[in-house]
Amino acid sequence: MAPRPTPADKFSFGLWTVGWQARDPFGDATRGELDAVEAVHKLAELGAYGITFHDDDLIPFGADSAARDAQIARFRKALDETGLVVPMVTTNLFTHPVFKDGGFTSNDRDVRRYALRKVLRNIDLAAELGAKTYVMWGGREGSEYDLAKDIRAALDRYREGVDLLCEYVVDRGYDLRFAIEPKPNEPRGDILLPTVGHALAFISTLARPEMVGLNPEVGHEQMAGLNYAHGIAQALWQGKLFHLDLNGQRGIKYDQDLVFGHGDLMNAFALVDLLENGGPDGGPAYDGPRHFDYKPSRTEDFTGVWASAEANMRTYLLLKERAAAFRADPEVAEALAASRVGDLAIPTVADGEGYAGLLADRSAFEEYDVDAAAARGFHFVRLNQLAVEHLLGAR
Ligand code: GCO
Ligand code: MN
Ligand code: MN
Repeated sequence: MAPRPTPADKFSFGLWTVGWQARDPFGDATRGELDAVEAVHKLAELGAYGITFHDDDLIPFGADSAARDAQIARFRKALDETGLVVPMVTTNLFTHPVFKDGGFTSNDRDVRRYALRKVLRNIDLAAELGAKTYVMWGGREGSEYDLAKDIRAALDRYREGVDLLCEYVVDRGYDLRFAIEPKPNEPRGDILLPTVGHALAFISTLARPEMVGLNPEVGHEQMAGLNYAHGIAQALWQGKLFHLDLNGQRGIKYDQDLVFGHGDLMNAFALVDLLENGGPDGGPAYDGPRHFDYKPSRTEDFTGVWASAEANMRTYLLLKERAAAFRADPEVAEALAASRVGDLAIPTVADGEGYAGLLADRSAFEEYDVDAAAARGFHFVRLNQLAVEHLLGAR
């Protein structure tokens, strides 16, 4: 039995996830609209703690200010009634045709100015609702044709945009940080900042790099054939894991946005173990929202939508339980030692030893038995099998 989710688990969902009407490039919507107020109540009932949104998920694009204010008031009331919070907000710079060549990096300067204004307006709302993270997913920032986009100029414009938004947040005194969400492709043929690594390198060029981190999504790294748990570990190592998007993906193909764990379950196990037990004291390595960015499959009706929302949380909690059992198993402790996993934390050259000490150490080279070391196994397969057995509930 999976434990029941509670707000202390910090599970959050995008309004666009449970609200997805399942329109795809080949077929019409299979579900009707979901009202934001109903989504808040339903998610709270299921044990979630937060809800996130793009401006246009909550307020229809082009709504006048009276309609906008009325909708924000209804939404706020639902939040107050349920205790659900808004930890993260983001902007839609991809649906309206004006963004067909991107927002911050469109070749059309007027579009770029309009995109920045759209973000600025929504940042005010994010701050008003108490969000601490502002996600930037640049799905339309990219190209299909190499000669049609000057990539270096596009990165200049991307940086100009992010720098301006940071300046605005500082000047307004908002307690808000930005999180860039990488994705390799879809909807553009090639998207700028396609992976965790590209985004980290970009952030280091910003005027206020400390205000900008990452929002890596499981499926997006896996679409590029990359290891998500490794990407998250590096983001943590660089102090840049500001937020994360959990979901499932089966291999290098279109963005599936499946339920968390319904793709690479072993990597999901390693991920939850890292998030929950990877801190320096064996505690959590990340204390932000566990945000699900998935799409209830097109085959599902509303009963299936809520079952899939629940499935994300149940899977996470089951993996957390299994990861705790894995860490508590004495045989695992012994296997970890046999694999010398902990030894990697020992500096290669001792404090104060330097290269002079290393050169003077004959046992490190002249007298080192290379053949004996090469013959020694690391027993990684046994360790991995123990993980599989814990994951399967066999131990
Ligand atoms: C995707 C993305 C988007 C973004 C979201 C936030 O599936 O390609 O995950 O859903 O996360 O739009 O801006
Ligand atoms: Mn996705
Ligand atoms: Mn996402």
